[in-house]
Amino acid sequence: MDQIMVTGNGPLSGQVPIAGAKNACLTLMPATLLSEEPLTLTNAPRLSDIRTMTTLLQSLGVEVTSLQGGKVLAMASHGTITPVADYDIVRKMRASNLVLGPLLARLGHAVVSLPGGCAIGARPMDIHIDALTALGAEIDLREGYLHATTKGGLRGAVHEMRFASVGATENFLMAATLAKGTSVLKNAAREPEIVDLATCLRKMGAQIAGDGTGTIEIQGVDRLHGATHPVVTDRIELGTYMLAPAICGGEVECLGGRIDLVAAFCEKLDAAGVSVTETPRGLTVAQKNGRIRAVDVVTEPFPGFPTDLQAQMMALLCTADGVSVLEERIFENRFMHAPELMRMGARIEVQGGTARVTGVDRLKGAPVMATDLRASVSLILAGLAAQGETVVSRVYHLDRGYERVEEKLSAIGAKIERVSGK
Ligand code: UD1
Repeated sequence: MDQIMVTGNGPLSGQVPIAGAKNACLTLMPATLLSEEPLTLTNAPRLSDIRTMTTLLQSLGVEVTSLQGGKVLAMASHGTITPVADYDIVRKMRASNLVLGPLLARLGHAVVSLPGGCAIGARPMDIHIDALTALGAEIDLREGYLHATTKGGLRGAVHEMRFASVGATENFLMAATLAKGTSVLKNAAREPEIVDLATCLRKMGAQIAGDGTGTIEIQGVDRLHGATHPVVTDRIELGTYMLAPAICGGEVECLGGRIDLVAAFCEKLDAAGVSVTETPRGLTVAQKNGRIRAVDVVTEPFPGFPTDLQAQMMALLCTADGVSVLEERIFENRFMHAPELMRMGARIEVQGGTARVTGVDRLKGAPVMATDLRASVSLILAGLAAQGETVVSRVYHLDRGYERVEEKLSAIGAKIERVSGK
């Protein structure tokens, strides 16, 4: 298995291009099931999760053609669609459940494996099931698969979710575009990836209003048509690269970065002593004056501080002046990077959903293990500022969500290389 070797190497400088958002692309791809006409996505990220979604869609009968080295995905669902999402694919990636809403809307039935838990938490599907049931689906669990059917198709409905789940909002939104009548989703998630999905669906002819707020209204239409859509910038990749100069010093411009995608995160950077400036091409980040100050962080649904940047922010706070308290409110088991950072000399106490980080002067390189996608990149960030060499193993987690991480970091002066394993 591949490993990544990082050696602390002082300040960084230069530019990093930020890719299209993994999480947006993973919901835009299943939207192709809603129309027989082609859907083409540009600015797609080149990641293993996108290849997994490609395999899943192909197994359902969708033609997926990857162009320009994977930056463009041309999809067509004009043939026969098989409505069964197999466990072997779904277990690899939870976002596979995003085919459920579109399959129900297109065919009136679907059989989708339950994804199972993952390292960061149990991650049930009850909110998705309640949302689709409100639209008239009948859903039973048999032999590990959700069997969903409708009598005479989906019908518009008013539904309030018990929690603003991102995936359930996406499934409801896609399903409701072809339902009969009007649907209203209350306590909807407001993430930029949902706005991106709604924007693409509108290009396909859907009638949607209120995306980006807690109430989304969808007027069902008889059919959707083809479209071409650029995937929105990845705010999590953006935040991750913004932390590189915050941790190592120097000045880095993140190309394609936008404040509105990472506003809550920028507020915390500002409080920690990191400056973020808008430029014509993105965002430039630098330390304001030397040592980082401790800050407290609570993860929340958008527009709050994203759970997907919590591990990387912890890497920054490990060497801050003072004590920072990080509270994880989205996933129950998302501090697995803490013991790995402690192997590098960090002082962290975890109690339930709270981590207390006491800043030390400098971290020291160590062999560490990636436990999940965002944890893996937090260890790389920590390694960039540590004394000596850090070897991160199990980097297949990293390849799910970061394209060419070692090339992008080397280009701004980091000492980082991938060592191919046997
Ligand atoms: C999406 C993102 C993920 C991010 C998360 C929260 C994708 C592909 N993934 O995941 O990177 O970390 O949003 O911002 O977009 N829950 C239930 N029942 C449900 C659904 C969710 O209890 O039916 C719980 C989950 O276990 C979790 C919380 O709600 O504790 C948030 O989950 P959700 O917003 O659904 O996240 P995902 O869409 O899975």
